[in-house]
Amino acid sequence: MGEDIDEIMKTLKKYSQEHLLNRYSELDQAKQKKLLEQIKAIDFELINSLYNNTKRDYEAAESEITPIEYLDKEKLNGEYKDYQAIGEKAIRNGELAAVTMAGGQGTRLGHNGPKGTYDIGLETHKSLFELLSDTLKEQGKKYGVVIPWFIMTSEENNEQTIEFFTKHRYFGHQKDKDLFFFKQGELPMVDTEGKILIGEDGLIKEAADGHGGIYESLVKRGMTKKMRELGTKWVFIGGIDNCLVKMVDPILMGIAIQKNVTAAGKSVVKANPQEKVGVFCKKNGRPSVLEYTEIPKELSEEIDENGELKYGESHILCNLFKLDAIERMGAKPLPYHSAFKKATYIDKEGNKVIPDGPNAYKFEAFLFDAFGELDDMAILRVKREEEFAPVKNATGVDSPETARELYRNFYKL
Ligand code: UTP
Repeated sequence: MGEDIDEIMKTLKKYSQEHLLNRYSELDQAKQKKLLEQIKAIDFELINSLYNNTKRDYEAAESEITPIEYLDKEKLNGEYKDYQAIGEKAIRNGELAAVTMAGGQGTRLGHNGPKGTYDIGLETHKSLFELLSDTLKEQGKKYGVVIPWFIMTSEENNEQTIEFFTKHRYFGHQKDKDLFFFKQGELPMVDTEGKILIGEDGLIKEAADGHGGIYESLVKRGMTKKMRELGTKWVFIGGIDNCLVKMVDPILMGIAIQKNVTAAGKSVVKANPQEKVGVFCKKNGRPSVLEYTEIPKELSEEIDENGELKYGESHILCNLFKLDAIERMGAKPLPYHSAFKKATYIDKEGNKVIPDGPNAYKFEAFLFDAFGELDDMAILRVKREEEFAPVKNATGVDSPETARELYRNFYKL
């Protein structure tokens, strides 16, 4: 252990992070071991460069942006039945698996616990996890299959999530048979000087590495292997915070199969040019999502021949991928974006600091940054009121109140 520490100290000195061992001697043995493991796992070069990037203005690489083609579910007419038949056949064959990303921190909602455990205030008091579970089971019944459900948690909320499911008898699913939990990756948080933070538990303060971590985690945690064993060919990936998410959609699947694409994504019409949503587009001829922070004003206002926004297909985190596309994307590192967040930590003198405002950087990869790896992607425009009821904020837009209303209207409750 002594040699180990000497080696680690050398590395810490090299990167000016010696403070990480300041309180080492005060930790119990288990924590000492864990701290050393954490430090050994840190890619200090990466953290250095991510920190340095926070001081630079974001420069979007020069790329040619063009609108992406899409199909409108409302206007499919005769083709609707064809897509439906193709999709249904694949679902009945057991080719679909569903993945729910539930590793986020849900800071805006401010719920004490994993977001999936949140009760949006329906008469039944069902949690988001249960609402999603209900639709998945119901759809499985409809097509005569059990659709395997994979739930991505984070280091921070994994234990609580599994406890919640255990308490609710897994909502009727069978753990490790048709219900699987896997953890996403993490990266250390750094302060404005680039120093890695120590959390209240005396260990490195780490944060989930963003929903872009999904592909790598699915592969690394053996989930794609599991999917292959189960006969999965298509994987739907969605978030936990959309209580109308349609994880099983024969039309979307039928389109992807018929058009022979590796992925298909759903969009809803952007409400107005200023709406703070990312939109599907093509970057240098490849599928992509343009964030609202990136889209130039002129582009956001451009109108097509039908009088609709040219860049008006909002990305709602509802995407379907071929299993091999996930494996391919999981093998390629994604760029990280930084977010300035509020983080309680222990300072060099051992004092607990609870900041009033953001004080530290967290690094995240975005799921859609991998779309450029896809040869092509079919986009299906769906109705907001049928498929998109996000729970993001505690009050106001995209809050439990608005989601509850959408949910009740859709199910005519
Ligand atoms: P958001 O980007 O809205 O983040 O996640 P969030 O964590 O829920 O909320 P804020 O921003 O802290 O308020 C969209 C979806 O991606 C998942 C979330 O759980 C949600 O389903 N997600 C996000 C992850 O699974 N891991 C992450 O690291 C980030």
